[in-house]
Amino acid sequence: MRTIPLFLLVLICTSSFYNASLPAGDPLDRKIDSLVSLMTVEEKVGQLTLYTSDWDVTGPTIRSGYKEDIKAGKVGAIFNAFTAAYTHDLQKLAVEGTRLHIPLVFGYDVIHGHRTIFPIPLGLSASWDLKAIEQSARIAATEASAEGLHWAYGPMVDIARDPRWGRIAEGSGEDTWLGCQIARAMVKGYQGNKLGDLTSVMASVKHFAAYGASQAGRDYHSVDMSERTLREVYLPPYKAAIDAGAATVMSSFNELDGVPASGNKFLMTDVLRKEWGFTGYVVSDYTSIMELIPHGVAADTASAARLALEAGVDMDMQAGFYQSALPRLLREGKLKEDLLNASVKRIVRKKFELGLFDNPYRYSDIAREKETVMKPAFSEAARDIARKSIVLLKNTPASGVSGSGQEKRVLPLSGSIKKLAVIGPLADARREMIGSWSAAGDWKKSVTLLEGIKANVAAGTQVVYAKGCNISDDSTAYFEQAVRAASQADVVVLALGEAAWMTGEAASRASLDLPGVQQKLAEELYKTGKPIVVVLMNGRPLTVNWIDQHVSAIIETWFLGTQAGNAIADVLLGACNPSGKLTVTFPQSVGQVPIFYNMKNTGRPRDPNNKYTSKYLDISNEPLYPFGFGLSYSSFAYGDVAVSKKGSRDQIELTVRCRLTNRGDRPGEEVVQLYIRDLVGSVTRPVKELKGFQKILLKPGEAKEVVFTLQPKDLSFYRKNMSFGPEPGMFQVFVGGNSRDVKTAGFELVESKDAGYDFIFPDGRKDF
Ligand code: NOJ
Repeated sequence: MRTIPLFLLVLICTSSFYNASLPAGDPLDRKIDSLVSLMTVEEKVGQLTLYTSDWDVTGPTIRSGYKEDIKAGKVGAIFNAFTAAYTHDLQKLAVEGTRLHIPLVFGYDVIHGHRTIFPIPLGLSASWDLKAIEQSARIAATEASAEGLHWAYGPMVDIARDPRWGRIAEGSGEDTWLGCQIARAMVKGYQGNKLGDLTSVMASVKHFAAYGASQAGRDYHSVDMSERTLREVYLPPYKAAIDAGAATVMSSFNELDGVPASGNKFLMTDVLRKEWGFTGYVVSDYTSIMELIPHGVAADTASAARLALEAGVDMDMQAGFYQSALPRLLREGKLKEDLLNASVKRIVRKKFELGLFDNPYRYSDIAREKETVMKPAFSEAARDIARKSIVLLKNTPASGVSGSGQEKRVLPLSGSIKKLAVIGPLADARREMIGSWSAAGDWKKSVTLLEGIKANVAAGTQVVYAKGCNISDDSTAYFEQAVRAASQADVVVLALGEAAWMTGEAASRASLDLPGVQQKLAEELYKTGKPIVVVLMNGRPLTVNWIDQHVSAIIETWFLGTQAGNAIADVLLGACNPSGKLTVTFPQSVGQVPIFYNMKNTGRPRDPNNKYTSKYLDISNEPLYPFGFGLSYSSFAYGDVAVSKKGSRDQIELTVRCRLTNRGDRPGEEVVQLYIRDLVGSVTRPVKELKGFQKILLKPGEAKEVVFTLQPKDLSFYRKNMSFGPEPGMFQVFVGGNSRDVKTAGFELVESKDAGYDFIFPDGRKDF
């Protein structure tokens, strides 16, 4: 094969060459066209192929044969390889070893931090702090790019309403509107101002599409839903990420309406490219092209590869199906080369945008890596964001705490506590702190709860520790020691929950109870009569009814990352007033799943006194904790909701006002949430839909009028005929600190004579 000399390629890739010798048009298009015209079919297929590197205990190593693939131009991108030195070495193989010197792209699961680990995404979302979420992704990108990475496999924006699904931990919970805001923030964080800036990495919005609706919460399982639900509930966060500029998309493992995503043309081409105008590239999730065979839509390698490429999947992660089948399919005339070219161009374009043709090693900079990774400022940010992600679920006055009363709730812990018992299988569990999908995170650097408490507690407080039990076995051997420690203490901090491995991929659970004998341990400790503060660490909603009914206080801490222990201590000890709110409903029982706040009313809404209504015989329909729920050390009072309007015709806006007062004795932040309900439509509408929120900081005694505005387009949905827009009629608007406890008012949307909309308000009516 003829080799193109490096100098010629450099020339081809410089705009001066093009400006002088090629016809007018977009210079980047011309460079790409020209490069692709030089490529053999095998080289093109190489650009469509992504393989993992492999590792040994002391660092990454290249699997034998792997180097040869890179040098032969059979690989366009690599994942699971990072550090400036390693990516430099691999890049050298591609750039110096291949005929066309095309640089590799390095991808990795940079999900909630790279080296500095932030809370798991479900936890991050509970901060309702878009700036903080964006900052976490910005820091992740800064660290990842300094280690030679160009491409993060996030954000995961799958709406998830089934806590049995282990991957609920990786997303932003159950709500579409909030999911869209977070998707945008994450993409901005990963990609920074523009691709090509040294601290920017390409985002890969995943898993397209509707992976979160896997049947029965079982991973990799089928998905079947109406197009209305798909478009209204599941698709918007992917679209929001793409509108925010996400460079790539990852297909999902599941089938949708009988067609697996990696062979689904409706998703990958019709919706993604034609409707949404996506111009980046699509990568399969891992071996999902190969999985078209067991799914039962392809009989062999060739038909799977063809189905995927024709559907619109540009890059084959790990299956090697494109490599083994596409050249032959082309030779046999079973595939159009234009289709192949289009995929190659999309991929190569990103390499240009990343600046890799100017300098393939620009991200692999050892000096930058050294000064960037795990900077103290990043740890500080991780601690701050972790604190913001903590949700206070319960805080009652505790009989064992001196001076019990309204102002003496058990949390924050008093500085005058003499002895504090820190108990539980997660109290000193360093390995678990960074949670699942913390790929490059070094768990050895994480701070445990015990360490955080010891480092931050008042000088006069003695801290005793007992493990109590393991996370998931049934041994009660350590119970006695734990009960002894509790009996001698003034207050017990009890860390319970899941192991990190119980959440994330391939980690579905049929039970949402605390694993092992953890609840039994809590029951034994409860018998001591000491006030108990439960610190939950978990990646999904848990059915912790007994805990809720018996202990004095509960905080939900998810897996908070590198700074977990310090952040939890900040909240327990009162240095930080918690402000997180749940972004997913906690059921009372796994039997209620799926349960989410914006369900439909049904024709027979639950009436406890009427058997023939929509309910269970053995349990109410209520969740344990509703979506949006979270307490504070302050207490917030909501005034009545007032609605008015301003503007007219196209500019008409609804204004919703509510007075919020901090009745507590310390400054606190409240996430004020705005919901609507469309009471009558051409199709049924949810009982509530989140449409806005504001995080309001108030001093003790301070009050503020919180003002939201809504436009008619904010009331849009897929109408009976699948057109998207609002429908005139009666609405309710709700404002509150969670999706259950709200104040309400009403309004009517009417079509005005001049083809716009108007709002009218039925006097004094708050409830239609
Ligand atoms: C499979 C997972 O589903 C996906 O989220 C991840 O990005 C890839 N593997 C790469 O590790």
